[in-house]
Amino acid sequence: MPSVTRHSLITVAVLAVAALVIIGVFIWSGVYNIGADDTHTRPVHSVLQALRERSIAVRADQLQPPPDLLDADRIRQGAGNYDAMCMGCHLAPGMAGTELSKGLYPAPPNLTTDTVDAAEAFWVIKHGIKASGMPAWGKSMDDEYIWNMAAFLQRLPELSAGQYETLVARSGGHDHGGGETQPHGHDEGAPSDDSETHAGMEMGPNEKTDESTGHAHPPGTPADHHDSAAPAKPAPASASETVEHRHADGTVESHPVEPQPVEPQPATTPAAPKPDATPESDDGHQHQH
Ligand code: HEC
Repeated sequence: MPSVTRHSLITVAVLAVAALVIIGVFIWSGVYNIGADDTHTRPVHSVLQALRERSIAVRADQLQPPPDLLDADRIRQGAGNYDAMCMGCHLAPGMAGTELSKGLYPAPPNLTTDTVDAAEAFWVIKHGIKASGMPAWGKSMDDEYIWNMAAFLQRLPELSAGQYETLVARSGGHDHGGGETQPHGHDEGAPSDDSETHAGMEMGPNEKTDESTGHAHPPGTPADHHDSAAPAKPAPASASETVEHRHADGTVESHPVEPQPVEPQPATTPAAPKPDATPESDDGHQHQH
């Protein structure tokens, strides 16, 4: 081998080792802030964005959306699952940000304003996105149900809060043929004995507010505190109204009030939760300040 070539090979190898050492020291030092409240620098952000967009676009290109994608039944069915599984991060019409939507980084896009190509939506819903809050729903949901949600997303940006609620009420609720988590869809209307706690984890207006479901209280709260603190249900609210509650740090958060159902619910539809608008039990969870 000519000595010039050998020299340049050695130089490249030394530089490569030096680069690895620098990267190793950078990682080991802990200098990098992994916190979700510390945004990426512009170049890193651009690289990650290009990586994500190309990765999704190339894979979505190979998918063929069903010919009846925009069928009304698909859209209606997708609405119930969207409301149960996605709204806490991607919001619903007229809804202010939730703790999840505001706290995640990368931030979940607001799907009530952003339109997403159906095949790309299908791919992302099925496979999720690494190192982000976006789960791979394909682990518990068949493709047909995922297409139904991709179909619903094509309509979502056009829906008013009232139209959204009506679609969800008619959808049959959270249903994808098995594997659903059940905090939102108690099909038999039976009182739930699951003892989930939601301290600090608001998902939005559809959290169960039924006091028979488990929920977190600061120690020492009397068991009957809701009866004494919140004696009256609010009058039926219109779809555009929102409930506001104030956090200890002074920030105010608002959620849309569920409208009373406009028509009798079909037997398969879980009863719509009735949010209490009183400050003590506003949406069925408490922060432990
Ligand atoms: C825990 C929060 C969370 C939940 C729940 C969630 N997502 Fe996401 N989703 C995200 C985040 C975060 C991103 C953006 C990831 C990124 O930019 O890298 C995202 C991205 C997406 C995208 C891509 C949008 C675009 O413009 O490319 C779609 C579509 C989507 N989500 C649909 C859904 C659907 C449908 C559901 C319910 C089945 C859902 N998501 C549930 C957090 C969530």
